[in-house]
Amino acid sequence: MRKFGNIDIIHKKPETGEQTMNDLEKYREQLALCDDKIIDALAERNGIAEKITAYKEEYGMPILQPRQEEKQRRRLEEKLEGSKYKKEILDVFDSIWKNGKRVQAKKLFPYNIVLIGFMGAGKSTVCEYLARMFAMKSVEMDQMIAGREQMSIPDIFETYGEEYFRNLETKLLVELQAESSLVISCGGGAALRERNVAEMKKNGRVVLLSASPEVIYSRVKDTDDRPVLKGRKSPEGIARLMEQRREKYEAAADIVIRTDNKSVPEICEEIVQRLTEMDE
Ligand code: S3P
Repeated sequence: MRKFGNIDIIHKKPETGEQTMNDLEKYREQLALCDDKIIDALAERNGIAEKITAYKEEYGMPILQPRQEEKQRRRLEEKLEGSKYKKEILDVFDSIWKNGKRVQAKKLFPYNIVLIGFMGAGKSTVCEYLARMFAMKSVEMDQMIAGREQMSIPDIFETYGEEYFRNLETKLLVELQAESSLVISCGGGAALRERNVAEMKKNGRVVLLSASPEVIYSRVKDTDDRPVLKGRKSPEGIARLMEQRREKYEAAADIVIRTDNKSVPEICEEIVQRLTEMDE
C-alpha cells in the first residue's frame, strides 16, 4: 500500500492481470495500424491534390475554387452528422485541408508573393485572401513595422521622419527574403527604392496592383492613417503622386494586375494565373 496525501492507494493487480495487459497491447497495436492507414490515406490524398492542381493548370482552369471548398466541408459535415466525434474529426480535417492547400501552394509558388502598389490599391485585402486560399503566411509590412516600433505609421513619420521609416522597410524586406511561401503586402512606398526591389526579387515575384485615382480616392477618403496623402487627398492629388511613382512601380513589377471593377477572388485568380504562366 502506498500513501498518497491522505489517501491510501492500493496497487491491486486486476483479477485477470495478464489477460488485461494483453488486451491493452492489442489495442495499442490496433491504434498503430489505424495510424498507418491514416498515413497512407494522407499520402494518397496529397498525391491526388497535386494531380488536381496539375490538371487545372494543364486545362487552364481556375486554381482557386472557394465553392468547391465549401462543398467539400458540407459533404463531410453531413457525413459526420450524429457522429460522437464530429467536432474532433472536423478539427482534424481543418488541418488536412490546410495542408492540402500548402502542398498546392508550395508547388505553385516556391517563392514569396510580393504585393506592391499605390495606397488603397487593395494590397492588404488581396494579401489576406491569397494567404487564406493557399494557407500561406501573410505579412503586412506596415503592421509589422508599427508593431515593432510600438508606434503608428503616422507617428513614426512625425517622430523620426520618412527616411527612418523607409530604412525599416528595407531591413524588413531583407529579413523576409530568407523565407518562402509568404504573401507580403508592402507599404505603398516600399517599391520606390531600388535596393528594396532588389531584396523583394531575391526570393519573390513582384505583383503590382493598380487602380484608377478615382477608385483609390473612394477607398482612402475616409481614412487618416497615410501621412503621404496629407494635402493630396483628392482624385487629382492622388493622380499626380501616382504619376510620379508610376515608372518605379512598373519597373519593379514582374506582373501588373488592374483591380478596378474586379472582385477580390477575381483579382486573386488573375494573379495565380499570371504567376503560373511565368513558369511555363
Ligand atoms: C505609404 C503607404 C502606406 C504606408 C506609409 C507610406 C506610401 O502603406 O507604408 O503611409 O508612401 O505610399 P499602404 O500602401 O499600405 O497604405
